[in-house]
Parts: sequence; structure tokens; C-alpha cells
Amino acid sequence: MTNDPSGTARQRNLKQPLGQYYRRRSPAPDRALTDAGPDTPGGEYLRRFWQPVALSSELRDLPVKVKIMGEDLVLFRDRSGRVGCLEPHCSHRGTSLEFGAIEERGLRCCYHGWLYDIDGTILETPNDPESTLKDRLCHGAYPLHEYKGLVFAYMGPPESKPEFPIYDVGADPAQELVPYFIATPCNWIQVFENIMDPVHGVFLHTRIAGTQFSDSFGDLPLLEFHESDIGMYYITPRRVGERVWVRMNDVILPNILRAGFIWEDGYAEKHFTRGSLLRWCVPVDDESCLAIGFRLFNAETDPAGKGDKRAVGKESVDLIGQTGERPYTERQRIPGDYDAQVSQRPIAVHALEHLQGSDRGLAMMRRLIRDGQEVVAQRHEPKCVRGMPGKIISTYCNDTVVRAPRRAAVDDDETLWRIGHAVASIVTDPSNGQGSARHERIVERVSALSEPALAKSAE
Ligand code: FES
Ligand SMILES: [Fe+2]
Repeated sequence: MTNDPSGTARQRNLKQPLGQYYRRRSPAPDRALTDAGPDTPGGEYLRRFWQPVALSSELRDLPVKVKIMGEDLVLFRDRSGRVGCLEPHCSHRGTSLEFGAIEERGLRCCYHGWLYDIDGTILETPNDPESTLKDRLCHGAYPLHEYKGLVFAYMGPPESKPEFPIYDVGADPAQELVPYFIATPCNWIQVFENIMDPVHGVFLHTRIAGTQFSDSFGDLPLLEFHESDIGMYYITPRRVGERVWVRMNDVILPNILRAGFIWEDGYAEKHFTRGSLLRWCVPVDDESCLAIGFRLFNAETDPAGKGDKRAVGKESVDLIGQTGERPYTERQRIPGDYDAQVSQRPIAVHALEHLQGSDRGLAMMRRLIRDGQEVVAQRHEPKCVRGMPGKIISTYCNDTVVRAPRRAAVDDDETLWRIGHAVASIVTDPSNGQGSARHERIVERVSALSEPALAKSAE
């Protein structure tokens, strides 16, 4: 092995039983894709978008030091309520502003009293009051935006700053958005790509160690992946007794996911309910990330009240297996998403994977992310949906359950796909408009897919 840097012995012995001797060495991770630090293609791509970096509730009477995309930052809320994001090291002599004093206006360095405004303006240099240095210098700062309990930062070039995007579920008064985050000790890509791996729901969440969400996830679903104007989505139609349950989940590029209702069982008719999550995967550094975003609470989505908003917040969410908090042996017996993803290595090594047909969604995801990185590296605008005043960005994630009993003379997969494709084509139709008008229009159209409605319209 030591004289086999190209891994020829490994390749030759991949089929050999008891052959780990030839497989001990791992190739390197695909760092061109996975790295997200300053000046990397991945970091530059993510920096073209608003990224959530903290909970609003964390910014109280003390500054908060965070690391985002490999860059240390100090966040604070001054006593007039404004939030700021500063380079940690004081422009005078480098003391960290995490030890600074919060003032009515800005943050004051503890060492010699320089006072910084939220945009990096140096307001005072009291150690040398006559100095004009403060008029000739600005401290490093990024813009922040607070939205529904999360603090977002824009860390890209100022001239490329997009409008803050408003997604449909955020603009829907029927949805309660509860912010949370979970620090996760592995690369952001492997946490993010889980959203386009619906087959793990069959095994990890249902068959291997018992049902974590609902038994209806236990059958292998039919599965299609499609690109969309915001990223990509999947369609999984399933039969549940006399009904067909269609789930669509979204990827919103570059690092946002929309996931359906976690406990969905497909037993009752539902028309375009909007799921459980709007969540970002934000790199802390290359080997850790924040799963940060909103749990959505809505009575129509969750009529039995299975969600628990009291359990949603800092390092906590009301879904099993999302943190490393549980006892190790319990995590071994009933592993969750956190255990499956973190244990793929600090950075999953794609060269060691053996992808199959059911993995084509994550292959598509990786390609889209790589394309975005390349476009930004070539100094072009990445493909994405920009925020715009008055614009509500449509997402496609939904659970729809309609009555459609199995028919003796018809291949049931045909029925499943007829309904799955019909739901997807209605939900992605831009002519539905935006916001609440779109929601009502889609509900009306998908309701007509159920058998009684179909029979009625044929009368
Ligand atoms: S190091 Fe901050 S004021 Fe001197
Ligand atoms: Fe999962």
C-alpha cells in the first residue's frame, strides 16, 4: 500500500472478501465541492445569499461570537435594538469585540474604548480624542436582517447584495414559524443532501429500528427528481389503502430545504399542506455546520398535534434523532438523521461511495451546487430566485392525499404516477399566481384529482 499512491491495489481488491487490508487508505474528500471557507468556490457561492447565522433571542446583553463559513464574527444587539455583525478583532490593536460593552449606539472595545456602530463606522477613539483616524477608517462589518426570530447575514460583495427573499410559507399567516438551530459536526453538503434521499425514510426512519414517524414511510416509494426555477424537487407517490399520498420536497439553491410533514401517514385526504421545515444548512467550517431555520406549525398539516413547539429552539427540535444529545447506546439502537450523517466522516468521501439509482437526486443536487460554484467563480450571477419587493417566492413542497382506489385492470404504478404528475404539474404551474391566491387556486385544483371529485365532474 505504501508504494501504491494511486490506489491500484485497492481497485484490484474491491471484490475480495476479508480484504480490508487493501482498503485501509481513503482517497481525499471532494474538497472543490465541499469546502466553504473564504475564497473557495463553495464559500463564494454561498456568500451571494442571505444566510441565517443565529437566533434573534441569542442577542441580548452580551456580544455573541460565531463562526460562519470559516470566518469568525461578533454579533450584537445594541441598546437601541439594532443588530450588528463585526469582524472580531478591534481595528486598534486586535482585542476581540466579544469582550466589548454594548452601548445605546454600537459596541465598545474593552481594551481602550473604541466604539463601533453596526455598520463598522468608528464612532469614538477615546484613548486619543483628537485623532482623525476614525474618519479615515471603517471596521469590517456585514449587513444583518432579522426575520421571524432568525438573524440573517449577507457576507458577499456589497454590490451584489440581493433583496431579502420572502418564501411563501413565511408570508402565510396560517403558518407559525418557530426558529431553531442544531450545530452538526460534519460537512454541510452531507447534511443538506439528505433532503433528496427519500429512500432513507424507508430504512433509517421505519424498517431498521422501528417506526420513527409513520408506518406509511416503510414502503419503497416511486421516485422522480426534477429541476425547478428555485432548485429541484422530488415527487414520491405512494399507495395508502384507498388513497394516494403524493409528497414533494424542495431544494432551494444554494442551501435551503423544504420538507413535508414529518409524521404524515397518508390516511386522510389533504390538499397541498405545506410541510414541517424551511431550513438552511450553513457551514461553520468545512467539518461542521448549522442546521438552522424554521419548524412550521399549522393545524391543517398536523391535525393531531404531533409537533411540540416548546421543544424547538437552540440546539433542539421536536423530531427524534436530530442531535447528538441522546445516550450513545440509544443512538446505536435507534439512530436518527444526525447519527447517519455525522458518521459518514467529518467530510464524506464521495470517491468511496457506490451510488445507485435511488441516489440520483443527490447526484443532481451535487451537480447543481457545483454549477452554481462555477458560475460565481466565473464572476457571473448564480442561477437563483432573487428576493424582490412585493414578491413571494413559490415553493413546491407539499403533501397531498386523494382518494383513488386500486383498479383491477390498471397497473397501480400508472395510477400513482397519473396522480403524482398531476399534483406536480398543478403545484409548479406559474399561472396559479403567488401567495395566498396561489394557495387557494392549487387547493381547488388538487382537490379535483380525488376520485369522488373526478366522478362528479364526469356526471
Ligand atoms: S484594542 Fe480595541 S480599543 Fe484598543
Ligand atoms: Fe431523515
